Amino acid sequence: MMAHSASRGTHGAEVRVLADPAALTRAAADLFVTEARAAIDARGRFAVALSGGSTPRALYGLLATEAALRDAIAWDRVHLFWGDERHVPPEHEQSNYRMVREALLDRVRIAPENVHRIAGETSDADAAAQAYQAELRAFFGLAEGDSPRLDLVLLGLGADAHTASLFPGAARTLERRDLVVAHWVESAKAYRVSLTAPVLNAARTIAFIVSGADKAQAVQQVVDGARDPLRYPAQLIEPADGRLVWLLDRAASSLLPPRA
Ligand code: 6PG
Repeated sequence: MMAHSASRGTHGAEVRVLADPAALTRAAADLFVTEARAAIDARGRFAVALSGGSTPRALYGLLATEAALRDAIAWDRVHLFWGDERHVPPEHEQSNYRMVREALLDRVRIAPENVHRIAGETSDADAAAQAYQAELRAFFGLAEGDSPRLDLVLLGLGADAHTASLFPGAARTLERRDLVVAHWVESAKAYRVSLTAPVLNAARTIAFIVSGADKAQAVQQVVDGARDPLRYPAQLIEPADGRLVWLLDRAASSLLPPRA
């Protein structure tokens, strides 16, 4: 593993470069287990927001299939949330919930009441966002104006520098008041529901998991580029008082200047 020291764009974040996608997935799994055990030891539960995408999916599959990882987590203490969801029913092929169900939920024992999915089947995406906002407020016992403090937020990165469903130019990408937003995403030709940047940033630990040469330019723009969050939404991710970790494979980090 090559380490890149934090550059300006990462605001003191930890940037870890792994040799290849398999090593990246393993590093992400090790981080997930570490964060889960620390949260459960400290607070009796682990609240994690999962990301959609193919890179995070590999992580969920490894956690579910490698006994040393799977058995290291007290799954009955784990509460799963989603950083974002497509506005589709849970059995739809585009559903992030379905992806997690197939990769993880069908293989580990998590009580249904600990699975806090975004209801993509609602009549309109705003209703899904409102319902999810209410669920977050209830679970975390939030007063008006408070942000939930997730123990871990997992994020992917699109080649367009989107993260979660905060997309370049989308109507509510820069939202700071609500906890959850719904908006039309032109590039996806679909409505998306997403946690907002303040909620993502309130987490104890935020981990980007990014693989592939096709993401290298987005990584460079977000980490080292000029600040333009509406163009590069992943630049919105700056933990309020938590930890930010970039887990990259060598291909995704290839445009970052080498550090000592
Ligand atoms: C989604 C994700 C999205 C994803 C990135 C990276 O719902 O698609 O939340 O933000 O993480 O697009 O996806 P890949 O890892 O598949 O490139």
